[in-house]
Amino acid sequence: MSRGRFITIEGPEGSGKSTHSRLLCEFLRGSGHKVLHTREPGGTRLGEAIRQVLLDKKNKNMSDGCELFLFLAARAQVVSEVIMPALKKGYIVVCDRFHDATVAYQGYGAGLDLKLIDSAGKLATGGLKPDLTILLDVETSAGLKRGGIKDRMEVKPVRFHKKVRDGYFKIAKKEPRRIKVINTGGVPIAAVQDKIRRAVSHVVQ
Ligand code: TMP
Repeated sequence: MSRGRFITIEGPEGSGKSTHSRLLCEFLRGSGHKVLHTREPGGTRLGEAIRQVLLDKKNKNMSDGCELFLFLAARAQVVSEVIMPALKKGYIVVCDRFHDATVAYQGYGAGLDLKLIDSAGKLATGGLKPDLTILLDVETSAGLKRGGIKDRMEVKPVRFHKKVRDGYFKIAKKEPRRIKVINTGGVPIAAVQDKIRRAVSHVVQ
């Protein structure tokens, strides 16, 4: 049975994840690959319902522990229902956010214990690790300037988002082979895509 490839796209708010993961998937499909694009939290009926709860500003009194478990719950579902079956069928799975987001946001951002996040995280991922992670980086205030209605995570204080960004840098430093950091602030979309595609070409034949 062939195993596909698992690519995750990470980054702080406003770093261009959605645009770039969509463009990457179009490119890979155009090159003849079987591609499954999903996102976190979400990607399943259950996960999308959990996403609504997580991002709804009405839930501004949500505790850090509740938040952690909801992100992990959504992950456990998308891994077992969508990601693992697709990988087993040989798909390239592109997922917007994964375990690194929990380490960056709930660990470095909210200050929850990193070891606890790692062990609880394994329960959610079933031990699955990305073959490649693209970390799109943008300076915090520039990223938060993006227009539109802000969700419960985006309205957290700027200092929280700065800790998240620093957290992502720390994660990337620990695993330089897996995580490729690409700056998107003020960089044309085509130039960023080019870098992403080059990084992906090392894990996708
Ligand atoms: P998105 O808007 O980028 O799709 O992600 C939803 C929000 O959830 C975003 O602010 C990042 C946050 N998040 C966490 O805090 N922890 C997690 O584990 C995940 C997957 C996302």
